[in-house]
Amino acid sequence: MLNAVRPFVRGARKLVAKSKLRSLPGNGFPQSVLPAAAYLVSEKTDERAEKIADRIEAERDRLASFGSQKVDILYSPKPGSAGSTVTADLRPSHGEVMQFSMEQVARTGKTRRWGLFMHLLAREHRSANILELGTCAGISGSYIGSSPHCQQLRTIEGSPALAELARSVLPLTVSNPTVINALFDEALDDILPVIEPIDFLFIDGHHEKIATLHYWQRVRPKLRDGAIVVFDDISWSQDMRDGWNELVREPHFSHAMDFGIVGVCIYRTAGTKPPRQWDLRAIAGVGKGVGNPHGWRN
Ligand SMILES: C[S@@+](CC[C@H](N)C(=O)[O-])C[C@H]1O[C@@H](n2cnc3c(N)ncnc32)[C@H](O)[C@@H]1O
Repeated sequence: MLNAVRPFVRGARKLVAKSKLRSLPGNGFPQSVLPAAAYLVSEKTDERAEKIADRIEAERDRLASFGSQKVDILYSPKPGSAGSTVTADLRPSHGEVMQFSMEQVARTGKTRRWGLFMHLLAREHRSANILELGTCAGISGSYIGSSPHCQQLRTIEGSPALAELARSVLPLTVSNPTVINALFDEALDDILPVIEPIDFLFIDGHHEKIATLHYWQRVRPKLRDGAIVVFDDISWSQDMRDGWNELVREPHFSHAMDFGIVGVCIYRTAGTKPPRQWDLRAIAGVGKGVGNPHGWRN
């Protein structure tokens, strides 16, 4: 019975997604985000982007084929571990170092669908200088950094083994990748004083509310006006959702777009009122539920 109903539910969701998508143009929605949003509905894009995705997915499969071989990864710490407010001298402690199998590592990277979504975002935005916090094996970095206008992808990873892996994965599709093996704050201490204005920032690691707000605030002065800022896993936990609910009140964003899995914001250097908010979970086909991650130890 359930199986019989499923295609109808899927069809109804698609209709809602299409109708929501149709409502966006001419309604003040950022032009540069439209193709990526449309892709989430059609799941079809051009041949060049699909070929890049095929190359990245072949590499993901190769990584997964190492099966149960183990690699260190920094798991996200418990909510509250960084205190209750962002202070100027805050340095959030990273979470527990866990061992993931190569299969898990391959799965941890953003999926083809979300990878292509970010590739299209970076392409339409003509992002040249890209910074990623949370490399893992370099899957999302490959999608974003292979966008045609990328001149420099810098990506930060705390696990030496994962940074090493990413150094072999990224050059397959990205022309100028730099993998920095350090904790986020240590790497930012080094690069922020010298980095050119950032066009695209992707924060995908240390998924804890205060830590996320802290990293965003640290990088903010180095963003170019109009930069894209993508926050991953905004519904991973209630704590991350609370973080997103603070970000959508941030006057330094002109738009805050909730795709359920990721939050996409447009940065503005000067702003006095909260951003325009867009609930685009229907477009992404994502429900309003919030995750309850396990693995946190007292
Ligand atoms: C969700 S994974 C990143 C996935 C990757 N963006 C992708 O989609 O392919 C998060 C990564 O951030 C790293 N990480 C977490 N906290 C960190 C910290 N404080 N400093 C440096 N790396 C950290 C973890 O080791 C992990 O590899």
